[in-house]
Amino acid sequence: MAAQFLADLDALLAEASAAFSAAADGEALEAARIEFLGAAKGRLKAVQKGLGTVAKEDKPAAGKRLNEVKEAIETAFTSAKDRLESAGPAAAGGARFDLTLPGRPLRVGRLHPISQTIDELKDIMGRLGFTPAEGPEIEDERHNFEALNIPLEHPARDPLDNFYLAVAAAGAGTATAPPHQEHAAPLLLRSQTSTVQIRVMERQPPPVRIISLGRVYRPDAADATHYPMFHQMEGLLIDRHATLADLKSVLRMFATGYLGSDVHVRFRPSFFPFTEPSVECDYYWNDRWIEFGGAGMVDPNVLQAVGYDPEEVSGFAFGLGVERLCMRRHGITDIREFYKNDVRFLQQF
Ligand code: PHE
Repeated sequence: MAAQFLADLDALLAEASAAFSAAADGEALEAARIEFLGAAKGRLKAVQKGLGTVAKEDKPAAGKRLNEVKEAIETAFTSAKDRLESAGPAAAGGARFDLTLPGRPLRVGRLHPISQTIDELKDIMGRLGFTPAEGPEIEDERHNFEALNIPLEHPARDPLDNFYLAVAAAGAGTATAPPHQEHAAPLLLRSQTSTVQIRVMERQPPPVRIISLGRVYRPDAADATHYPMFHQMEGLLIDRHATLADLKSVLRMFATGYLGSDVHVRFRPSFFPFTEPSVECDYYWNDRWIEFGGAGMVDPNVLQAVGYDPEEVSGFAFGLGVERLCMRRHGITDIREFYKNDVRFLQQF
């Protein structure tokens, strides 16, 4: 039966080689490998059993041929595998490291456009001698209203126009109430950075020359020009002979610093409880007037509220929206873009 066995081996080798070289991808090759070389049900295993039927004297030669055929089938498999792998990772059916692919660029983070604007404003005002000052975002009514000459009946104090914080009722479940709430003094998220004027003047005697940049909160519905949280820059200068002319030149130098060209400044009469006289300030830039914000000479009542003598010192203050300034300069038309955290927007700055 040796002749039959040897013929079976030759036929198997021919079939296996054909199947391996015909395999078009890793999956087909693996199927062919299982068919021919599979440990349990592979066809080589089946043919191998025929060795038992070979006459004793023919066995050594038949066994030798079996080994040769086995090796030849394995070689055919290996070369088919190499062929597929050099054709590319997809054909080989698995991930493969391709040194020729371009690398993934590292994405470098950057500061939010509002943070960048704040840094720039600090820089410009620093050159004019204004030092940054800070105050809390959770405020009491004295700093947000009373000391700023905003009396109780003033519409700016309407609970619907402010984010008042719920305060634990006196005596109710007091074990968990923080100590500062024990007297149930109403607290709110500050609605303007003018609070910092009061905090600074309470702490230090005149002269004062500060700016304060930070978040303020108002319950406005979000639209293209409103957002319930935004940033303001507050400026305050107190000295012996500060005048409206000083205010005007500071604002002009600031505008020139930020907008990069000589700008005209215009004052329109306005009203704020904490300044007298009060003005709205506009800049003429790129052929149109743009609103800058509110300003004015600090009201004597405010100076008195912090223990300054209005006969001795005077000063001016101004407040403007940081988002609006940044939007004007970059041509951004919707304030909500700043707070969507969409990197496609943010990475432009
Ligand atoms: N606090 C005012 C506002 O929020 C702006 C302002 C600041 C006006 C300082 C005058 C002086 O609108």
